[in-house]
Amino acid sequence: MDALTGPVLITGTDTGVGKTIVTAAIAASATAAGLRVAVVKPGQTGVDPAYGEVTDEEVIARLAAPASTRTLAAYPDPLAPIAAARVAGMAALDLYTVVDTVKHVATEYDLVLVEGAGGLLVPMGPRIAAMPGGGAWNVGDLAVSLGAPAVVVTRAGLGTLNHTALTLEALERRGITGLVVLGAWPADLELVHLTNLDDLPGDLHGLLPEGAGTMEPGVFRRSAPGWLTETLYGSCDDPRLLAEPEE
Ligand SMILES: Nc1ncnc2c1ncn2[C@@H]1O[C@H](COP(=O)(O)OP(=O)(O)O)[C@@H](O)[C@H]1O
Ligand SMILES: [Mg+2]
Repeated sequence: MDALTGPVLITGTDTGVGKTIVTAAIAASATAAGLRVAVVKPGQTGVDPAYGEVTDEEVIARLAAPASTRTLAAYPDPLAPIAAARVAGMAALDLYTVVDTVKHVATEYDLVLVEGAGGLLVPMGPRIAAMPGGGAWNVGDLAVSLGAPAVVVTRAGLGTLNHTALTLEALERRGITGLVVLGAWPADLELVHLTNLDDLPGDLHGLLPEGAGTMEPGVFRRSAPGWLTETLYGSCDDPRLLAEPEE
């Protein structure tokens, strides 16, 4: 597969699987390869300005320093974006505004990484602005509207085979290409991690070590290409080889 350009969705099998750190790794690798990279976070939730919590955009800017980062809407409560907007009495995300923004950003940058919220089918905003509650749009709809592929970030532990298969099946039925990346490969390996890696469905395009997100940014940027395939601007021929237990 050729290296990805234009809009690319970064989704996952669940919330907290490492989408942000994987986005930073791809952004760092593509930037090092000479691309102008933009990162867009359509809906950031769980960030209450009163507590000064760090946003995904801030994490990515610090670790990867891509040419551009932006957050389109931020909501205080840690909920799905459609619910976070409702609870806060704030404007919900509009699919076509997000599509237009990402398309516009894609005219100015080589690669646009769009980090979803939670997993693929999380409700992002109302499908029809005038009819709240009448169905929601999700990151799958965004990928279809953009004609963009999706990176699926997965866990290493028990349950990941089902979650990864479900997510890939949902992508396939929408005609979206899916690339699998393991978000955090444990340092202390158990049998289940190794068997999961053998049985993980889809095409594995990356494997990040646990602790990647806590690396010093210079170390992170130097290390990131080693975790990803050439399709994601890395130098790793086979991410499964990164998982071999130490002798
Ligand atoms: N490879 C990793 N190394 C260290 N911490 C990680 C790694 N992947 C995820 N995390 C941590 O796990 C939590 C969830 O990761 P995050 O990237 O925010 O997930 P998501 O974006 O999918 O919600 C964060 O606290 C993050 O720092
Ligand atoms: Mg995130």
